Amino acid sequence: MNKLIVVSGFSILVAFGIACSPKKAANTTPAAPAMLTKEVALKQYSSAQIAEGEALNNAKCGTCHKLYPAGQFGEQRWNQVLNRMIPKAKATEQEGKLIRAYIVANSKGAS
Ligand code: HEC
Repeated sequence: MNKLIVVSGFSILVAFGIACSPKKAANTTPAAPAMLTKEVALKQYSSAQIAEGEALNNAKCGTCHKLYPAGQFGEQRWNQVLNRMIPKAKATEQEGKLIRAYIVANSKGAS
């Protein structure tokens, strides 16, 4: 009888212990989609970096279709397009930033 009490007491402790164990924290929060404004691009990037971005754009962005002129769209549309196209162009994170800086700096702006 005593043994039964000890055993059931033990299982209650075990069950309680499992119930109280901390839940596995979600460790992957999706990154917010990148958004660069024309104003910030012109402020944060040097003309040398923007020229580098232009060279990368010319080298990597005209392989599947014609090169789209930066002035064709405003910053909002370009950011959405670039979030899809930079991975397609197999650009590194740094190259992607420079391409985005060049295009957005020469875009129609906030229109
Ligand atoms: C691997 C091929 C490939 C590469 C490299 C590529 N694109 Fe594209 N691009 C596409 C395809 C396919 C479409 C049409 C489907 C779509 O819009 O997703 C497209 C569409 C576009 C459009 C039109 C989107 C619209 O909404 O009107 C723009 C602008 C563009 N690409 C820019 C770029 C830029 C800038 C780069 C370089 C960072 C790039 N692309 C690299 C395949 C590519």
